[in-house]
Amino acid sequence: MTEEEKRIFELHPSLARVERRQDDGRREIKSFVLRGQKLKDYQISALENHFDEYAVVYDENVKLDFASLFGNGNPVVIEIGFGMGESTLRIAREHPEVNYLGIEVFLFGFSKLLANAAKEDLKNIKVMRFDAVQVLQDMVLDGSVDGFHVFFPDPWPKKRHHKKRLIQKPFAELLASKLKEGGYIYCVTDWEEYADQMLSVLGSVDGLVNPYGGFAPPVPWRPETGFERKGLEQDFTINEVWVEKRG
Ligand SMILES: C[S@@+](CC[C@H](N)C(=O)[O-])C[C@H]1O[C@@H](n2cnc3c(N)ncnc32)[C@H](O)[C@@H]1O
Repeated sequence: MTEEEKRIFELHPSLARVERRQDDGRREIKSFVLRGQKLKDYQISALENHFDEYAVVYDENVKLDFASLFGNGNPVVIEIGFGMGESTLRIAREHPEVNYLGIEVFLFGFSKLLANAAKEDLKNIKVMRFDAVQVLQDMVLDGSVDGFHVFFPDPWPKKRHHKKRLIQKPFAELLASKLKEGGYIYCVTDWEEYADQMLSVLGSVDGLVNPYGGFAPPVPWRPETGFERKGLEQDFTINEVWVEKRG
């Protein structure tokens, strides 16, 4: 742990919680590996000055009330694993009529999006540093979310790691249960075999409908991400999956 992280964790102990092992010492299967990257001054200063305004703290005993969190009744989209938050920031800037809750475990990316949202004084972004699976299970009410964005989730290419992939049936069912009627799940990947998995998994959940019957056409409002650029440089195909909740 760097000195900066130590200082930040002293200031906001909740941020360190995702780094702790389970109390019973069990190792759960997680979809992420925690990466460290030295925080820059602007990120530290944003964590010192804007944390309460932008950060939502994981608390298994609290259910999120989005209307009071954002101060309005606008639709809520949750982005899972936003990385550096570049697409989150742009989408939120261009859609002030929608509220965005970004969930990411990577402290550097979390702090970067928090700092950028504060710099632009955006009112429709909140960020969480925690495991999105637990956040959804413990803090998000059923039928309360208008959309989910999962852009370039870790592909875990090795077969023995496939169990770590986020988009699997139980998680897809969890997402579906949190959606409002008419809400959507939008996933994008540059890993073709994971794209096929997304298509079949999301297509197999009761109540989710794929209006395209296959991969979706690119959505014009989704900006290119850093991971996407890397994939494109290697000539990978970008596949998009869009499903909607219909009763
Ligand atoms: C391959 S990166 C893609 C980042 C970004 N969406 C992009 O396109 O540039 C996947 C990100 O998901 C995050 N992640 C994976 N599992 C997660 C989870 N369960 N909860 C929160 N974040 C997660 C990782 O930390 C990582 O930053």
